[in-house]
Amino acid sequence: MILTVTLNPAIDVTYYVDELVRQAGLRVTRVLERSGGKGVNVARVAAACAADVAATGLTGGRRGQQLRADVAEAGIHEEFCRIKGETRRTVNIVETERPGLPTELREPGPPISQAEWDHFRKRFKSLAAEADVVTMSGSLPPGVPADAYATLISVTRSVSAAKVIVDTGGEPLRLACAAGPDLVKPNEAELLGATAADGRTRLDRVLAGAAGLRDLGAAAVVVSLGSSGSVAVTPDGRWRASHTAIPGGNPVGAGDALVAGLALSAVGIRAAGSRADGSWAAGNWAAGNWAQALRQASGLAMASVLAASAGEVDPAAAKRFAEHVRIREIRGAKA
Ligand SMILES: Nc1ncnc2c1ncn2[C@@H]1O[C@H](COP(=O)(O)OP(=O)(O)OP(=O)(O)O)[C@@H](O)[C@H]1O
Ligand SMILES: [Mg+2]
Repeated sequence: MILTVTLNPAIDVTYYVDELVRQAGLRVTRVLERSGGKGVNVARVAAACAADVAATGLTGGRRGQQLRADVAEAGIHEEFCRIKGETRRTVNIVETERPGLPTELREPGPPISQAEWDHFRKRFKSLAAEADVVTMSGSLPPGVPADAYATLISVTRSVSAAKVIVDTGGEPLRLACAAGPDLVKPNEAELLGATAADGRTRLDRVLAGAAGLRDLGAAAVVVSLGSSGSVAVTPDGRWRASHTAIPGGNPVGAGDALVAGLALSAVGIRAAGSRADGSWAAGNWAAGNWAQALRQASGLAMASVLAASAGEVDPAAAKRFAEHVRIREIRGAKA
């Protein structure tokens, strides 16, 4: 079972306008509302690939109720803890007449009390005991300590042999690394924000940053580079995945799809043990097969760019994309 953790989930609202003009009244041409947060997106993508997925985290109020119902409706085991505060919103403003990334308004999230955090850790412990892979994604709400992911990694280790994947930035990422996760997945900005990565070229800086996170304690690092693909720095070697850029798609949540793909390829261990079907079994990074795992995860990330909203993928499109991902081993001196 894949267990996804989203401590600060959100109801994502997307407004479409022709062009964003400040200090003016704008006509909204389309509104979308859906349950989100990075770990929820991971869960949706993994569930779309027919994996057994449970989602946990902290939700509250009317929006929390809506989020839990949406998660259950997507075929995911809904295991969220209730909190007193109201689940936050994020607002994305997409400008249809101006290509580029949307403008995002991110609410910080409701304050979490000590009792609520204590209760969550207990619930998490029993869920982690049943998991093959645990993913921990996104920002932390106010009141949750910066070492929250580090704590959850230690809790996981105390109850299971599950692989742990962490996708966050800043101090929570640095502290999580010190607790020894199996894999961290920063994007380039998160990587450079968390490490003093130096280097002449972009690839040199990425390799140096990833080596820095491994020095802190992460076993492996996959750095996502947007349309330029990704780089894996692992105990088994280093790889570069590259592919064509998809123009005009929606890259929000592509990193979450990449994490879902990496989680799926780790679950492949079990699938391979019972019945070696399922293409995910072949890509098992936990057995050192990084090239295949990156290929499959990149295919899912590309398919998510093509889909209208974060957390959505067409698994058939992902398989087609995966065939065209170029994987190259990076040899030579370690940065
Ligand atoms: N425009 C694009 N065209 C094709 N593939 C893309 C594009 N943008 C992203 N990808 C794929 O998605 C992966 C993750 O993207 P990215 O680095 O943007 O993640 P991220 O910043 O963590 O995103 P998020 O946090 O919104 O999920 C990349 O490694 C790449 O494989
Ligand atoms: Mg990300």
